[in-house]
Amino acid sequence: MNDSHVSRLKGSVRLIDLPQIRDPRGDLTFVEGGNHIPFDIRRVYYLYNVPVDAERGGHAHRDLEQIVFALSGSFRMRIDDGETKSEYWLRDPRKGLYISRMIWREMDSFSQGAVCMVLASHRYDEADYYRDYDEFLAAVRGRG
Ligand code: TYD
Repeated sequence: MNDSHVSRLKGSVRLIDLPQIRDPRGDLTFVEGGNHIPFDIRRVYYLYNVPVDAERGGHAHRDLEQIVFALSGSFRMRIDDGETKSEYWLRDPRKGLYISRMIWREMDSFSQGAVCMVLASHRYDEADYYRDYDEFLAAVRGRG
């Protein structure tokens, strides 16, 4: 693994800390597009009622950038930029996982009642997906 590759993965996938307003009545966290996160939010979606043995994701995106949060409970995100693999356990609603374009992601090990919220840079577009891993690998290595 060369240095340029390490820095590419570091820049393309990273945890983002959000502000937290502590209060005896309950904590509050907020997100401002273009301020706390590096894109304007064009879509929000969330996963819930996820069976504990479910596997989600299994795709990459041509252009989409996303930030993934565990608003409640926890789950694992497995990340792959075509060269380097890493994994993150999301369980803190103040910490979002930023995922740039051209990153393969898989999600599993959802806790009971987990809620995953995703902020996205574009509206839903099936044409933006790589759902075939080999096709993704060929593209990310410059052959796609
Ligand atoms: P998918 O992105 O594969 O889900 P995940 O990565 O969480 O496993 O999407 C599952 C289905 O939902 C697929 O048929 C596309 C549809 N979908 C939308 O219609 N709009 C959306 O914003 C998203 C994220 C998915």
